[in-house]
Amino acid sequence: MSDLLWKKSGQSGPDEKVMAFLAGDDVKLDRYLLGFDIQASAAHANGLRTIGVLSDEECNQVQGALRAIADDLASGKKELDIRFEDGHSAIEAWLTESLGPLGAKIHTGRSRNDQVAVALRLYLKHQLEMLLRACEAIARALLARAAKEKDIVLPGHTHLQKAMPSSAGLWLAGHAEAFIDNTETAFRIRQCIDASPLGTASGFGINLPLAREQVAQELSFARLVVNPQYAQNARGKVEWLALTALAAATLDLRRFAWDLSLFSSDEFDYLVLAQRYCTGSSIMPNKNNPDVAELLRATHGVVVGAQAELNEVLALPSGYHRDLQATKPPVIRAFTKGLQALDLVPDLVRTFEWKRDKLAKGISPEMFATDETTELAAQGMPFREAYRNIAENLSAVQNRDALETVRKRISPGASGKLMLEVLTARLDELTGIEK
Ligand code: ARG
Repeated sequence: MSDLLWKKSGQSGPDEKVMAFLAGDDVKLDRYLLGFDIQASAAHANGLRTIGVLSDEECNQVQGALRAIADDLASGKKELDIRFEDGHSAIEAWLTESLGPLGAKIHTGRSRNDQVAVALRLYLKHQLEMLLRACEAIARALLARAAKEKDIVLPGHTHLQKAMPSSAGLWLAGHAEAFIDNTETAFRIRQCIDASPLGTASGFGINLPLAREQVAQELSFARLVVNPQYAQNARGKVEWLALTALAAATLDLRRFAWDLSLFSSDEFDYLVLAQRYCTGSSIMPNKNNPDVAELLRATHGVVVGAQAELNEVLALPSGYHRDLQATKPPVIRAFTKGLQALDLVPDLVRTFEWKRDKLAKGISPEMFATDETTELAAQGMPFREAYRNIAENLSAVQNRDALETVRKRISPGASGKLMLEVLTARLDELTGIEK
């Protein structure tokens, strides 16, 4: 291992076994954060120049060296490996390697505590941006199909029992609206965590007039985390909030994937998933299983499991505690899995095919009972009386044209008036697309 940042002369420090435990998964997981850490280090160096801790020349050298490190990491010439305790140590070691004592000046006015906090916020903002885009893409794919398939009749169910004739358009637009909400949730939570903790050091500030605002702006943060103690106390909480946005999306994904697996089952048989999203059985030659939809469904468990893990780790008093390092694995695991899953959905949506004959066969006459009851009520019969009349003689409910029936459902949002333009306009506004 390269020299530990905090090792004092004459002290032996932890042995290898203890060090391996302390470092935990950091060298692996800090690979996700390293680019953000380098970006924040560059902004911090500019801030140090502003207050005269680094000269212009020194700052230029640091910037050049940081760029070289980023390039070497990208090309694979450098790698974060077990020689380093973590990504922060690696950056300082690489800087010192190329600049000598100047490299060690970078840590003036910062601590690894605010360094990791800022890298994580940048990482989370990026993940939430990708979440927002993933939710948008899913919503758009669903809206496009809803527009095309508003006239495909779909048996509507409640309690897993046949209820009323409905449409593919209504089902698709319903899932679309969920993902529009999730786009908004990702957007708002991103705003909520868009604050820079850099320059709060170990949680108490520093006896230097750090250019925190300038550094925050350079890193595109909307504002500062003002209070140094809160900058530390918010560690893990911002991750928890970000996971809430992810969990909202995977919750809806779970329901959508459930519907797909149900509708593609032999029992329902309403749709066929594209072959590339299905797998066979190792023993049963007849099987074609919806494994992708099932693993999409399982993603929510990964995300809320990560959130539960965070909750446990965060049972801490104020200030930095090394426990906080244990927030990284669940968060990175959940975002990696969650985004990988969400990314598959638009194509899955575009490629399944309805089995129209089966959908039509799924409509039985008693499913028109509610429409008939409402018609009687609209003609002036008290609703309860109409309900009882129909209920007492269900077999007398006339079979109808199902398509005509769903087209007549004109209450706003219903199958005859899906209001897709309203949903689309809301999504456009959220995602900044001008018409
Ligand atoms: N790997 C550590 C973490 O994730 C970095 C901060 C270490 N700070 C400290 N005071 N030991 O929390």
